[in-house]
Amino acid sequence: MDRSFPIVLITGSGTGIGAAAARIFGGGGAAVGVVGRRIEPLENTAAQIEAAGGKALVIPADLADPAAPHLIVSKVAEKWGGLDVIVNNAAAIHHLPVAEATREWFDRHMAVNVRAPYFLVQEGLPYLKESAAPCVINISSSSGSLAIPGQSMYGCSKAALEYLTRSLAAELAPWSIRVNAIAPGPVDTPIHLTWAGDDLEGAYERMKKEVPLQRMGTAEELGEWIVWLAGPQSRFVTGAVIPVDGGQVLPGALSAISGEQDG
Ligand SMILES: NC(=O)c1ccc[n+]([C@@H]2O[C@H](COP(=O)([O-])OP(=O)(O)OC[C@H]3O[C@@H](n4cnc5c(N)ncnc54)[C@H](OP(=O)(O)O)[C@@H]3O)[C@@H](O)[C@H]2O)c1
Repeated sequence: MDRSFPIVLITGSGTGIGAAAARIFGGGGAAVGVVGRRIEPLENTAAQIEAAGGKALVIPADLADPAAPHLIVSKVAEKWGGLDVIVNNAAAIHHLPVAEATREWFDRHMAVNVRAPYFLVQEGLPYLKESAAPCVINISSSSGSLAIPGQSMYGCSKAALEYLTRSLAAELAPWSIRVNAIAPGPVDTPIHLTWAGDDLEGAYERMKKEVPLQRMGTAEELGEWIVWLAGPQSRFVTGAVIPVDGGQVLPGALSAISGEQDG
């Protein structure tokens, strides 16, 4: 179905990468459903989308709730009559060694990072099948492919999201629904407040040293990639997991960096 503006749903769009993508989509005239648990950041993002020339709908929801995908997609579809792009961006994250992990945190990672994206796609399918340019963009992480002590729950949820990306890309290709993922490296967003404790500066210094380009990414850099992946330039791309990580997952990169520093 032809529309005069794209209809986009972005989870976790009150802050960070999701908010940046929402602003950029808004600047292109898109209608954006913004989803998260806290209303205030969502309202801030909605105001920025509208100031940039787009339309916004605030949808407070907890993606750990199995009922959330139906509620979220229904609200967007009722408001604008369709859905073209789903950005599965929200994530649960908690660093714990396996000896200290809890079932509650394990289940939360799977519910928010894997189950919710999967069922958002299921709920969105009738609308995506009617869209002129349908796509799903999953936000993974370099942690989905690197073996990082303490990140087994988060990392395996992201690896599962990458598998979903590939398998759904193949399954939904007959309807020209593209499914891709972006795997960011360290990006300067509020997510690090959840695990870095009092030493955020120290955590940033350590993360920069893990990246060949020796810096954190910005939310805007990631947002631009999300919008690009949804756009016509990428219409022959599906099933891809694109690292936007300053080279973090390059084989041998970490030992090369530490070798340089030692020398
Ligand atoms: N920043 C990085 O270094 C980095 C690196 C690799 C991958 N990533 C990925 O990038 C994505 C975006 O993260 P970010 O860095 O932009 O962090 P962020 O600013 O903390 O954004 C995450 C958003 O998800 C929302 N959220 C979390 N749990 C939720 C739930 N149960 N239901 C609904 N919304 C929920 C949060 O809002 P509420 O708290 O209000 O719900 C928050 O706005 C995530 O998938 C993350 O794994 C980030």
